[in-house]
Formats: sequence, structure tokens, C-alpha cells
Amino acid sequence: MYEQDFKNFKNDYVMNMENMFAAVSDLYAEYWNDLFHFAIFENDKESWQSAFDRTHIKYMQDIKIKSAEKVLVLACGRGGFSNIIAQNTKADVLGIDISKSQLSHTKKFKRDNLRFKHHDVMKVDELGETFDAAVFLDAACYLPDKNKALSKISKVLNPGARLLILDWCKKSGLNKIQEELVLHPFMKYWAISGLETEKTYAKNFRNNDFRLINFRDLNDKVRRNWEFGYHCAINAVNQLSISALPRLVWKGMKLGSNGVRLIKEQFPAAVYIKVGYDVGFLRYVYYLVEKI
Ligand SMILES: C[S@@+](CC[C@H](N)C(=O)[O-])C[C@H]1O[C@@H](n2cnc3c(N)ncnc32)[C@H](O)[C@@H]1O
Repeated sequence: MYEQDFKNFKNDYVMNMENMFAAVSDLYAEYWNDLFHFAIFENDKESWQSAFDRTHIKYMQDIKIKSAEKVLVLACGRGGFSNIIAQNTKADVLGIDISKSQLSHTKKFKRDNLRFKHHDVMKVDELGETFDAAVFLDAACYLPDKNKALSKISKVLNPGARLLILDWCKKSGLNKIQEELVLHPFMKYWAISGLETEKTYAKNFRNNDFRLINFRDLNDKVRRNWEFGYHCAINAVNQLSISALPRLVWKGMKLGSNGVRLIKEQFPAAVYIKVGYDVGFLRYVYYLVEKI
């Protein structure tokens, strides 16, 4: 039913990502600020700030930023985490993203060791630089070919470099109808052409000279993020007025009526994401790997 959509998402991912984030970046920033990834909670009482702080410290330790000279932030979005990394290391930090709209918000982060570049992860090997560490948060799911992307990322990492990936995956062994009813609707709204499983990730790492250091399925620890996203959608729809929507669209691109459509689609996306989480088909996974 969605096959043609997914084919188009693979072929037109550059335009789709530019358009989608130009439409939705400010909408999400109203709730998530400049961090479009999940906080990992230790318990139900922990504050958001404390969970985000601890999550970020752990991620920086995982990739050993203290011993890195150059750090790559893949799909850096609005630059929030790149800025935190640059604040905590002497290393040179480069954030790349495919969305000009997302990158337009990085201008406020000014540090001598921090750079941002408009660049596609699928062409990361064309940067002409190599790195000692890399992070890739909440964005690999959008790529048209995850194995190919990992082969390119592998090329720009020095031996021993750590790569941390947090990604939205699907549960292994789902049948077609389960995928179609629960996952495909939200993938359609977010222009995602396919989701990986634990098995396919393991294969992709083996294919591309990565040694697995740690894997964790974090669904239990990120429940409050999924619920927060869902409640934001409920609140937003309660206060909705059609005249408020166009003001959210980035003015740097002409999206016309597509801009409003893309914003409106975030509501059903949030509903389906909640269902995907509640039924356990959608998984939030953590991979720490090392370049061989
Ligand atoms: C959910 S946001 C996450 C942003 C950031 N990692 C963070 O944690 O705040 C997903 C990001 O992936 C970017 N993206 C998607 N496909 C990309 C690609 N092929 N190359 C570079 N960036 C990409 C989008 O533009 C968007 O900024």
C-alpha cells in the first residue's frame, strides 16, 4: 500500500528532508528546544534537565571525546548537542546536516572549535576530512540506505574511532500486516523509507569494519519522551488555529501549501508513534561501535 511512497522517499530524500525540516523545525523546537533527541531517564522522578545532562555526559564519555582531536556530529540538526560537545573538549567539532533550515539555528553557537556545514551523511566521504569520534542521534532512520551510509562513515573514521548511534528501529520478526498498520503510517508522514532491526544493524556493522562495543534497547528508559511527544501533539491540536501554522514554516524556503500540510501531518505521526511504542514495534536503540 505504501510501496510507492517508500520508493519516492529513497529517491527524493534530499528534497524531502529539506522540505520537512523547513516546515517542522520551529514546531518541534517549541517543545524540544535545540535537542531533537531523547533523554535517557534513570527513574520516573528524574527531572528532564538531569536526564539530558546525564545522557550527554555518558554519550561524550562513550565516544572518548577527551582523547579525540576531531569529532563529527552526523545530522547535527539545530546544533544543540554539537555545542555541548565543543564546550567539553578541546577537539575540533564539525556538525553536518542536510537541512538548511535546521542549520540556520546553529549561528548562535559561536566557539573556536565548533563548525557547521550543510552536507549529506550519504556523501560524508566527500568532506575530505577524517575523525577520531562521531555521534549520530535520532536521524539514521531517515537515510535511504543505512548500509551504504555506514560504509561512507567508516571511510572517514580513523582506526579506533568510536561511533555512537541512537536510532529508531523496528522489532525483529514483524509480519507485513503489523508493519503496514502500525509503522508505515508514521514512516509516511516522516518520509522514512525503511527501518532497521537489531539483526540488520549487526550485519551492516560487520560489513563496514565496525566492532560492536555495546548495544542496548532503551525503550524502557525513554518512555517519558514518547509520552511527552504525544501529549505535546494533544495540547497543540487543542489550541490549534489554521492561521498560526504558516508562521512556523521557515522563511528561507518557498514551500507553499506543502509547508502547512507537513506541519499538519505531525499530528497523525505523533499518534502512530505512540501506538508503535505502546505495542512494542518501534524500538529506540543504542549502538556503540569502534572502527577496526
Ligand atoms: C530528529 S532530527 C535530529 C537532529 C540532531 N541529531 C539532534 O539530536 O538534535 C533529524 C535530523 O537529521 C537530518 N538528516 C536527515 N537526513 C540527513 C542526511 N542524509 N544527511 C544529513 N542530515 C540528515 C535532518 O535534517 C534533521 O536535522
